Amino acid sequence: MSPPDSLENERAHTFREASARSGEPGMSVIIGKDGGTKWRPPPAHPAGHILWLTGLSGAGKSTIAQMLKSRLDAGGQPACVLDGDALRQGINADLGFAETDRAESVRRAGKIAALFADSGFVAITALISPYRSDRGRVRTLRPDRFHEVHVDAPLHVCEARDPKGLYRKARAGAIPRFTGVSDPYEPPETPEIVLDTAALTADECVDRLMGYVREMIARTITTR
Ligand SMILES: Nc1ncnc2c1ncn2[C@@H]1O[C@H](COP(=O)(O)OP(=O)(O)OP(=O)(O)O)[C@@H](O)[C@H]1O
Ligand SMILES: [Mg+2]
Repeated sequence: MSPPDSLENERAHTFREASARSGEPGMSVIIGKDGGTKWRPPPAHPAGHILWLTGLSGAGKSTIAQMLKSRLDAGGQPACVLDGDALRQGINADLGFAETDRAESVRRAGKIAALFADSGFVAITALISPYRSDRGRVRTLRPDRFHEVHVDAPLHVCEARDPKGLYRKARAGAIPRFTGVSDPYEPPETPEIVLDTAALTADECVDRLMGYVREMIARTITTR
């Protein structure tokens, strides 16, 4: 087999269609300048995952998500953060906080996360996502690669932190339907991992999550 003219001067050429002829589907053929060929298997490729961080406002979702992404970046693992606040400034800007709007917000975030996961990313979402049913629906998108992370701190701890001053406003009645104050939060019943952010530092939480993520990736190394 000779390489197509347009590629003749390339140093090496990879022809996927050749894998069908080789009888070894999934193999790539490298054709050197001298016309010699050799077969090689596709590289090991880690499957992507969805890490779904859920918890009260102020529990630490965004903090942990960003720290985890930095750790994954440093290790060469593609990762992205889909943060509820950022999504609400753009793709979810048309949504409010009624139950149906929260469901739609979670649905959209889940669909985006699934696309990233399919491209090999660890997609880390940081949304309050207060309803079990909404989170459950996202799980069904990629059941074997969805990991629910309960970023857990009691309401009084979150309220004392109040990093955005939202609890103060909600208690003053300025924010209707505020989760934990005037709207429900349904904690996960069987999350893959719980991070107790009242007892652990953010670094300790990220260490635990990294341990989980390493195992999760190791379990699902695939080839393609
Ligand atoms: N173990 C911990 N993990 C994460 N954050 C912690 C921890 N301990 C204290 N914090 C502090 O708690 C605050 C958490 O704020 P953060 O914005 O991450 O919450 P959030 O869950 O994203 O809230 P929201 O839903 O409103 O976006 C930060 O000020 C952070 O420094
Ligand atoms: Mg946040």
